[in-house]
Amino acid sequence: MENPEVGYHRQTAYRRGALGGGYLDWSARPSVYKDYRGLPTVALPEDILGFHKPFFEVLFGAPGSDAGRRDWDLRGLARTLVLGYGITAQSGRGADAFFYRSVPSAGALYPCELYAAVQGLPDLEDGLYHHDLARNRLVRLRTGPFLRSERPWAAAFFVTALFYRSSWKYRERAYRYCLLDAGHLVENVFLVLQSEGLTAQVFDRFDDGAVNAFLGVDPTREVCLAVLTVPHEGTETEGEASQREAPPVFWREGPFEPVQPEACRMSPSDTVPRAILDAHGATTFGPASGTRSKSRPSPAPPLKGEAPQAVTRPEEVAAAQGLSFAEALWRRRSYRNYVSQQVSSSVWQILWHSVALRPALCPALEVRVACGDAQDLPAGIYRWNAAAGEMCLVKAGDFRSSSARACLDQDWLRHAVFHFAFTVRWPDLWEFLGPRGYRAAMLDAGRLGHRVYLASTALGLGACGVGAFYDEELRRVFDGDEDRDVLYVTASGPVKKLWK
Ligand SMILES: Cc1cc2nc3c(=O)[nH]c(=O)nc-3n(C[C@H](O)[C@H](O)[C@H](O)COP(=O)(O)O)c2cc1C
Repeated sequence: MENPEVGYHRQTAYRRGALGGGYLDWSARPSVYKDYRGLPTVALPEDILGFHKPFFEVLFGAPGSDAGRRDWDLRGLARTLVLGYGITAQSGRGADAFFYRSVPSAGALYPCELYAAVQGLPDLEDGLYHHDLARNRLVRLRTGPFLRSERPWAAAFFVTALFYRSSWKYRERAYRYCLLDAGHLVENVFLVLQSEGLTAQVFDRFDDGAVNAFLGVDPTREVCLAVLTVPHEGTETEGEASQREAPPVFWREGPFEPVQPEACRMSPSDTVPRAILDAHGATTFGPASGTRSKSRPSPAPPLKGEAPQAVTRPEEVAAAQGLSFAEALWRRRSYRNYVSQQVSSSVWQILWHSVALRPALCPALEVRVACGDAQDLPAGIYRWNAAAGEMCLVKAGDFRSSSARACLDQDWLRHAVFHFAFTVRWPDLWEFLGPRGYRAAMLDAGRLGHRVYLASTALGLGACGVGAFYDEELRRVFDGDEDRDVLYVTASGPVKKLWK
């Protein structure tokens, strides 16, 4: 397998008995907030909630009709930033206080940052802003119109990751978590924009050097992993394949001066493992390096002996759920207190249908589900093709205990009714997307995991992402061939008690 990203993924695999000690250097603990000094700031309005669209109306709704829409303003931007990446819970007090966010994060290390370039908003100066979520404000990094758009207004969101925040704990494996976390954040922002009636375009393919320079970051520490644009000239009618490639989003070409690159230092000793820089470097595009994807992959061969079964989506359950979209985002948390209790067929059907991206960054991703006690669904491992609304039984039996063991013996997992495993066959990924495919696959795995979290919350279930697993063992549980790996798992099911 010549794909260097398979190399990174397998090189960072966990093996039973071969995990290094859990030593953490607390003196080098990274800050979870990025701090710019002395730049102009804009306080975000506080009275931003109060929109009550039902959660599933947003999740399953048609894309927004933003053509010609003029009324988006600073409050809309604030909703996007605060719901998209805001503080939603606190544990402890005083010096022990810890703040949780609207997106989950491996180890709650929050490697991601969110930036917005906006122009034409009635009450905000055109420019590039950093979302200072700790202080609920914007920090203006650059002033002026930077977006290529003929529309009355336009915005682009940039999701970055600071490697060290995650590598402090997870070392070489941290690049995986940066990408998965970024996927969660992308999907959250995407859905908030959808709730605003706006259709964002998500891009993972762009000129890395140009975007990082525009953001002004130190690219040895912080890099852009995804861009969302809304509404943006020339992107709305294009086909699925070309949507993955970001149009040049800037009016003005660089060079751009860095903006306080020292703000990217999260600790005085913040060395990023070479393996991470190499893995990221191997997926990096220059301005002229042809961001086009290759041909479509040949469809995965049907698994022997299985008959696809259609799963319809029961509309009435979605409509009946009381949670508004904003409440679902606000209440989302990671749960590990699962209980053995049967899930009704309408609930699991809604949940499964929630696990779909249209369009996806990475069509090579395949979802498999290990399930326990669900009505009209014999225990087993299933392949779930949300686009076709079809599932196939891969193997019958309850494999949740084996899956829990493979997930670093996280015993609580065996009580979760569903283990969604996001998997990829490396040759397909390579053939379709080339070296950049790893980013696309991991981002999409995070995005799908996020949909599991939010849909579970809205259905009164708990959910939890699982990035810690013995890779080889887990592949065997989900019946992967030699060329397939699990990228991420998200568990879901009834829990003993939900946070209020
Ligand atoms: C990529 C990723 C991997 C995760 N892996 C695990 C895991 O292996 N075990 C676990 O108990 N929680 C895991 N979590 C959940 C985080 O611990 C949790 O999101 C974090 O503590 C913040 O809490 P919250 O989700 O309730 O806001 C993971 C989350 C993400 C996004």
